[in-house]
Amino acid sequence: MNHFTIERLTPPVGGDDVADLARLLVDAVASGAAVSFVAPLSLEQAGAWWRKTLKEAHPRAVFFVARDDEGIAGSVQLHPAWAPNQPHRAEITKLLVHRRCRRSGLGRRLMQAIEQAARGAGFGLLTLDAKRGAAAEHLYRTMGWVHAGTIPRFAVDPDGTTLHDAVIFYKELRDESRESKRGNGEQERW
Ligand SMILES: CC(C)(COP(=O)(O)OP(=O)(O)OC[C@H]1O[C@@H](n2cnc3c(N)ncnc32)[C@H](O)[C@@H]1OP(=O)(O)O)[C@@H](O)C(=O)NCCC(=O)NCCS
Repeated sequence: MNHFTIERLTPPVGGDDVADLARLLVDAVASGAAVSFVAPLSLEQAGAWWRKTLKEAHPRAVFFVARDDEGIAGSVQLHPAWAPNQPHRAEITKLLVHRRCRRSGLGRRLMQAIEQAARGAGFGLLTLDAKRGAAAEHLYRTMGWVHAGTIPRFAVDPDGTTLHDAVIFYKELRDESRESKRGNGEQERW
């Protein structure tokens, strides 16, 4: 059984971690996952994407990584909506688990960690999307995410040609203090 530690990644992120994150992203694309990129994705391209993403992230963005004996084995990100009229919404992106440790509960643990962080940061609405029929869709459905709809032919697979549909999910986070105010007839505020 693999042993993982899950931790929040805080800047400045070291070169070794960026290299591990690049390997993780390259592994996901090589596995056929729909994670924005087409194959082949080089380590250099993946590293450049991570550096840019980390550098340009919103101040309230959250990054979690999972580590095992070989380094970073998984990651997930939370990005607050940029729009001033959506202060309560954030998007979850790039849930990645390296092939060496899939199906051992790590994806679920990373999602639990990021949802808890989102709740703690005061977000009330989370959104994300996934390739229809992919492992991630099954995972989100088992974690209470609500299917908002499906967009046909949304993106291409890593092969660069095969179109796939995207499923759009959302999750409203329960805030017990908000729930009790609602119960008392108080106006709901985020
Ligand atoms: C999606 C992903 C993160 C899941 O990570 P994981 O650590 O293997 O997932 P878990 O072991 O926590 O699985 C949790 C649940 O997800 C579902 N699930 C995971 N992999 C699945 C698969 N291959 N087929 C069907 N359901 C799957 C199951 O419901 C599973 O629960 P169970 O094991 O009790 O049946 C991983 O497959 C991955 O990194 N894929 C490539 C990247 C990707 O597509 N990311 C999502 C972007 S939206």
